[in-house]
This record gives sequence, structure tokens and C-alpha cells, in this order.
Amino acid sequence: MLFGPPGAGKGTQASIIVDITGKPQVSTGDMLRFAVSEGTELGFEAKKFMDAGGLVPDHVIIGLIEQRLEESDASGGVLFDGFPRTIPQAEALSRITDVSAVISIEVPDDDIVSRIVGRRMDPETGEIYHISFRPAPEEIQSRLVHRKDDTEETVRNRLIAYHEQTKPLGDWYANRGILTEIDGTGSIQEVGASVKEALSGL
Ligand code: AP5
Repeated sequence: MLFGPPGAGKGTQASIIVDITGKPQVSTGDMLRFAVSEGTELGFEAKKFMDAGGLVPDHVIIGLIEQRLEESDASGGVLFDGFPRTIPQAEALSRITDVSAVISIEVPDDDIVSRIVGRRMDPETGEIYHISFRPAPEEIQSRLVHRKDDTEETVRNRLIAYHEQTKPLGDWYANRGILTEIDGTGSIQEVGASVKEALSGL
């Protein structure tokens, strides 16, 4: 599981873990955005929470995860990205399956806003870019999208939700002896090296 505040670099670093472990990435944020873009009932329900920077209710997320874990590619384990985000979600997950390792990417709030406001996504490949820290190639610039919840105001709300509801999970997993904390303040490459080191120690 990848754990950390919004914009810490979970999505950016997930590909390293997917490449090394071969396990599929399960990002509840991506699943919710897909539901929104498809105009499903779930997407309609989730959108108002996401746009405001709050968390989608636990029962919705747990149902989504239960369904996802029944898919055949999940039978050998998955990489969770952005899930669980509350103690009730972690408790529900512990009733479904065991979590073997949690890598926490630590980034102070002061660095988060600029990372998120400058983020751009490639809708064709899902690749994550940043206007300063990871500029996209010139030829794809015109198709990049800026996530609707990537505004300074919404980021502040997301950080409040993180500190109040998600951060306590770090202690929850530390008490179970499966949390590895890494410094997320270096460059994307430096953080990637720390992720690889953490993985090799598992
Ligand atoms: P979600 O999509 O999960 O958003 P998040 O956790 O807020 O995380 P982000 O995707 O914003 O950031 P990230 O850590 O992946 O960073 P990234 O690699 O992109 O969730 C969105 C919403 O859905 C939530 O607000 C909530 O409403 C709902 N939701 C989702 N899951 C839920 C759940 N379980 N329960 C309830 N509600 C849920 O990097 C960010 C930027 O920084 C990029 O531009 C990147 O290029 C750049 N960057 C990355 N690393 C570095 C670095 N080392 N140095 C400089 N720049 C960097």
C-alpha cells in the first residue's frame, strides 16, 4: 500500500512498484474519476465530495474495493494507492485480506500545494506530469488536463481531510509493524530510489 498526503507522489511512484512486483495498481481516486466520467450513479454521488476536497463515504469506497478485489488480476495481491483513507476503511480491509506492507511518502503541507496546483494529467496514457517538476513533452501539451480538484482552495480542504481522517492510519499500521516511512521531499528520481530501497527491505 502507498500512503501519504494528497500530492505526495503516490501515483508517480506507483509505477515503480508495479514494475517490480507485477501487482496491479488499485487507485480509488482513479476508480472514482472513471465513475464520474462515465456518469454512473456512483460517480454522481462521489463527485460532490471530490469537488469539495472531502472524502467519499466509507461504505461507497468499501463496496468499490470489494468488487475490485474479486477481479481475476487481483488474486495475487494488489498495490493500493489512496486506499484505505480512514480507520473504518482499514478495518473493513483487514476483514477482506491482509496488508503485507505500507510505504508512507512523507511530504510537509508547504510542498503539497505547488505540487498539486501544477499537476497535469495525460488522459490518453494516465501519465502524471508537473508544469515545473516534470514537464510533459511539447507534442502532448495540448491534450493535458488539469484535475478539477487541483485548485489551491480544494487542496486546503483535502489536507484538512488528510490530517483529520487519514494521517492517524499511519500509527495504525506502524503499531502493526508494517509501516516504512520514506522522505518524499527530494526529486522524483530521489524518492523513486527510496521506494526501491524500501521494497528491497521487505
Ligand atoms: P486521489 O486521486 O487519491 O487523490 P490524492 O490522495 O489526493 O492524491 P493525489 O492523486 O492528489 O496525489 P499523489 O500522491 O498520487 O501525487 P502525484 O503522484 O499525482 O483522490 C481524489 C479524491 O477522491 C479525494 O479527494 C477523495 O474525495 C476521493 N477518494 C479517493 N480515494 C478515497 C478513499 N479511499 N476514501 C474516500 N475518498 C476517496 O503527484 C502530484 C504532483 O506532484 C504531480 O504533478 C507530480 O508530477 C508531482 N510530483 C510527484 N513527486 C514529486 C517530487 N518528488 N518532487 C516534485 N514534484 C513531484
